[in-house]
Amino acid sequence: LAIVSSGNAAASMGAHAARAGLESIAMVDNQAPLSKLAQLSVYGVKALVINADYSRIMELFISARDRFGWYDCNSENNPFRFEGNKTCAYEICDQLEWEVPDWVISPMGTCTGIAGQWKGFKELVLTDFTTETPHLAGVQAEACSPVVTAFRKKGKTVEPCEPGQTIATAIKMSNPRYGKKALQSIYESNGDAETVTDGEMLEAVKLLAKEGIFSEPAGVAPLAAAIKLVEHGRIEKDQEVVCVVTGHGLKTPEIASSISHRPSAIDPRSEDVEKALQTHRECELKPKFHS
Ligand SMILES: Cc1ncc(COP(=O)(O)O)c(C=O)c1O
Repeated sequence: LAIVSSGNAAASMGAHAARAGLESIAMVDNQAPLSKLAQLSVYGVKALVINADYSRIMELFISARDRFGWYDCNSENNPFRFEGNKTCAYEICDQLEWEVPDWVISPMGTCTGIAGQWKGFKELVLTDFTTETPHLAGVQAEACSPVVTAFRKKGKTVEPCEPGQTIATAIKMSNPRYGKKALQSIYESNGDAETVTDGEMLEAVKLLAKEGIFSEPAGVAPLAAAIKLVEHGRIEKDQEVVCVVTGHGLKTPEIASSISHRPSAIDPRSEDVEKALQTHRECELKPKFHS
């Protein structure tokens, strides 16, 4: 089994390959955090870290796939990926006791996720499990947002963009394979699309943590976007919104450490406990990160 990945899909493939006793190979770009590479390593994935962007890595992958006869797990070339992603729609409705939320907001990278979800929501109506579909909203990092740009121009296709820097590396996709399908899903569902800055994502990481959920930046982009869409009146305050949180915060430890403090060790004395609590209070008053 083989895939091109920012790290998360490769880990998923690696876990399943390990369970099935199959060899697996992943091509990842050189921005993949060590925590994601560590997962590949424990599952026994042969990880090839490549100094190139996604499109170039994909070209390289295709020639290697054809040369070595790999089974291609990329959503670009494998329709079963949509079948996997559509189950997100099933899970959302199942967990809401077959009620359909007003909005579902998802991060967009290759856009397989949002397009797969749209397939899933439509199938639930076709099979009479639900009677309506939600509005879908897609989110990209401001520094790399070709689908949102196309949506703002009411376009039907997506032009590749020149990507800037963003902490949301998992969705940094300058030429998304299913950008056109994402636009279709958004238009058909009477949905929306929005960008979020790195600062907005970091603020949303802290906000979501108050619910007991720790997300990586790409995974929290929907919450950051929900706040904007409500502020701009594009989502009504009383509407039910599901934000799809796609990646755990420990997947990007350098981001986690940029918004957290390492407490100094103290001696086991009551007065030191009191002083340490005071330091914590002072830290809370002085947030480390400002958007
Ligand atoms: C954490 C996370 N969120 C979102 C995405 C984007 O999903 P898709 O490529 O299906 O649009 C990815 C893709 O790798 C991801 O790793």
